[in-house]
Amino acid sequence: MKLSTLAVVGSQWGDEGKGKITDFLAERADVIVRYQGGPNAGHTVVVGKDIFKLHHLPSGVLYPGKICILGNGMVLDPVTLCSELNNLKERGVVPDKLFISDRVHLIMPYHKKLDELEEKVRSGNKIGTTMRGIGPAYVDKIFRLGLRSGDVQNENELREKLAFILQMKNELFAKLYDVQGFTMEDLEEEYLPAARMLLPYLADTPVLLAEEMEKGSKVLFEGAQGTMLDIDHGTYPYVTSSSPVSGGACIGAGVAPFQIGTVLGITKAYTTRVGGGPFPTELKDHIGDMIREKGKEYGTTTGRPRRIGWLDGVALRHACRINGFYYLAITLFDVLSGLETIKVATAYQYGSQLLEHFPANLNILEKCNPVYMELNGWEEDISEAKNLQALPPQARNYISFLEELLRVKIALVSVGPRRDQTIVLNDKFY
Ligand code: IMP
Repeated sequence: MKLSTLAVVGSQWGDEGKGKITDFLAERADVIVRYQGGPNAGHTVVVGKDIFKLHHLPSGVLYPGKICILGNGMVLDPVTLCSELNNLKERGVVPDKLFISDRVHLIMPYHKKLDELEEKVRSGNKIGTTMRGIGPAYVDKIFRLGLRSGDVQNENELREKLAFILQMKNELFAKLYDVQGFTMEDLEEEYLPAARMLLPYLADTPVLLAEEMEKGSKVLFEGAQGTMLDIDHGTYPYVTSSSPVSGGACIGAGVAPFQIGTVLGITKAYTTRVGGGPFPTELKDHIGDMIREKGKEYGTTTGRPRRIGWLDGVALRHACRINGFYYLAITLFDVLSGLETIKVATAYQYGSQLLEHFPANLNILEKCNPVYMELNGWEEDISEAKNLQALPPQARNYISFLEELLRVKIALVSVGPRRDQTIVLNDKFY
């Protein structure tokens, strides 16, 4: 069987512009699958004059006729997902081939409440979560106390399961947090009706995927967040509660490792991060402010200003290895225009040691000073450049420097939010 699959994975702390790249690539795909995360993600996709902000739905929903799958590895907020679907319908986008895994876990109002309470308790050690209930929903999945989309198919079983869950949760609310818990009636107000509206979309999605791959359909696995927010490989505990790395696609979509095919990493031309946690190349000066404003670096989901830094080659090296990137797409490249010089961290100085690999221990990471390579910047606006030759020599030099540093091929360079603001350097990967 000849496979034609591609995983699109964030290589930094999320917000790398995966939505734009997936949307660009989705044109060639038959099936687009999201494999982890939930409404903590926010994709902004620009189609002509229209701006779409997606949270659960893969970017492929904007193309008619594509099969879109919300995989079992995600956590879904039924209320948010219904309003996302309604918003699209109001704007004339009807996702007629949307399938939701019947094994996907649901985010319930008690998860959101717990997200808020747990962050409060952490006080000085806040993760800075998106407050969407993501962590508590994944905790319940692992604790074997989760509610799955398929549980909503049978009313009696649903009530029985929820009665037990509420009993456990309400003990926690009363005894640990001294706050009011939730009743079945509370859930009937909004969440359960929304969960029932999703029933027509439920399917055994790994079976569907296997059938599509058997037919030779092109499948695109879409990761949310990024490698440095991965629960195992990120800057733990300042991470999200799922596995955005390419390996997560096997579990979260229900496919075998050999079915993942090529992995395309997405990186910004600089680095951003939202929420707490160490950030070695962070810029707290006017250059950081300039990049934030020019790159409109404010969260799609929460509106929070993002922290800005130079490109971190150590973190990227880590991401290339963990994910098996052979190709990278660079996004927000146009934002760097106007800088006299551009820095890239190639290693970290930790006391007398030079570290080339990203350390696991955050106390070590906090004491690391980036070792920078300084490259010449360029003045020209590159947002309408259509090919490599149209870029200034300094910009081309930045690209080849990264290829050498990370031993990857740069396949795509994005110079603006529109689909046609994408320079294709290599399209053999998909
Ligand atoms: P949670 O995923 O809401 O639990 O948040 C955990 C951490 O991941 C926080 O630092 C969030 O800011 C970060 N995070 C979660 N989703 C995204 C995203 O889509 N982009 C960037 N950061 C994210």
